[in-house]
Amino acid sequence: MENCIIVTGGAGFIGSNFANAWIKLGLGKLVNLDKLTYAGNLANLADVEQHPNHIFIQGDIGDKELIPSLLRQHRPRAIVNFAAESHVDRSIHGPAEFIETNIVGTFNLLEATRAYWGGLNDSDKANFRFLHVSTDEVYGSLSKTDPAFSETKAYEPNSPYSASKAASDHLVRAYHHTYGMPVLTTNCSNNYGPYHFPEKLIPLVIHNALNGRPLPIYGNGQQIRDWLYVGDHCAAIRRVLEAGKVGEVYNIGGWNEKANIEVVHTLCDILDKEKPKQSGSYRDQITFVQDRPGHDVRYAIDASKIERELGWKPAETFETGIQKTVTWYLTHQDWVNNVTSGEYKNWVSTNYKERGEELA
Ligand code: NAD
Ligand code: DAU
Repeated sequence: MENCIIVTGGAGFIGSNFANAWIKLGLGKLVNLDKLTYAGNLANLADVEQHPNHIFIQGDIGDKELIPSLLRQHRPRAIVNFAAESHVDRSIHGPAEFIETNIVGTFNLLEATRAYWGGLNDSDKANFRFLHVSTDEVYGSLSKTDPAFSETKAYEPNSPYSASKAASDHLVRAYHHTYGMPVLTTNCSNNYGPYHFPEKLIPLVIHNALNGRPLPIYGNGQQIRDWLYVGDHCAAIRRVLEAGKVGEVYNIGGWNEKANIEVVHTLCDILDKEKPKQSGSYRDQITFVQDRPGHDVRYAIDASKIERELGWKPAETFETGIQKTVTWYLTHQDWVNNVTSGEYKNWVSTNYKERGEELA
């Protein structure tokens, strides 16, 4: 085996943060396989595209010829699977792609990996890792008083997105249990930070605020998410890859539970300071719109296992991370303008028109 890892979905939000950090830290060769859907963007990889240790390949995790050939060619010591359709609202509008990539695609990756791993010598076999990046949404929805999700919480996915991620988690688990494949699964809470595609709450609100558009809050805005700065998620994945116990699941979270309305207020307050409007506050743009069908009320991660067993802790608080994030968006308006042209406009129009708002 080579000192090489294959990362899938590495041109998306979290995957590109992971790839950029991996190369900057000098951790070895990284082969980045990404289909470049609407969510994948080579501009996210501009800092590493010329680096000899970063190899980008456009392709699908569901490709039955490409994956075995990449494994034969690069002989990786690990695969980190980020590739997925990731937006809950899109899964409500059209679940088919979610089944195709998140379930069938992951299955194809597991099958190809099983064949490759089966052909390794004993020591390489023992050292190989398949790390599957998953989400806290597979655990379902909590009431305001329920304890946070632990790794033993039963799966109760509620959206086509979370159901497809749950299915992929189960497949990964089965490949360990049945074939002994050295897998690791991480279930993380809501990420935020650089390169976050502006269909998701935080970057959408920053983008709309700066463009004088409504800031759409689904329902009453009291739904709770547990926010983690993307750099901390990437550090946690590196730690699990390095020291995680084979076959185990690690929950990753920031201990930052916030109601959506509170997050939006914080963003408006930072923008009021950093980029004041001619008159009034960005809060004046807040608009309550029709709720997400089946909207999960609360997610909360109990991250004590990874903290206790692997010594990982987030470096950012919500306050430091959100300030960094707003600054990044203010200083990367070219990136935002680039990703909000074209297909993005169609999505925004489809999603918000039916909620009674014209946002495009
Ligand atoms: P994203 O939508 O920003 O990026 C997904 C990437 O996968 C894109 O670059 C896309 O082009 C690529 N991709 C999609 N289908 C593919 C396929 N068939 N083959 C190869 N590449 C494909 O997603 P993200 O927010 O970066 O999430 C990455 C992973 O982390 C996902 O598995 C997601 O479920 C998980 N996750 C996300 C969050 C979050 O808050 N964003 C939290 C926990 C877990
Ligand atoms: O919990 C981890 C998950 O976090 C990941 O698995 C998903 O890939 C990721 O997209 C994210 O899912 P959410 O649905 O929580 O994220 P989103 O940014 O879409 O929404 C956050 C909250 O804000 C949610 O309660 C819905 C609400 N919302 C979202 C949008 C886009 C609004 O109120 N208005 C909006 O316009």
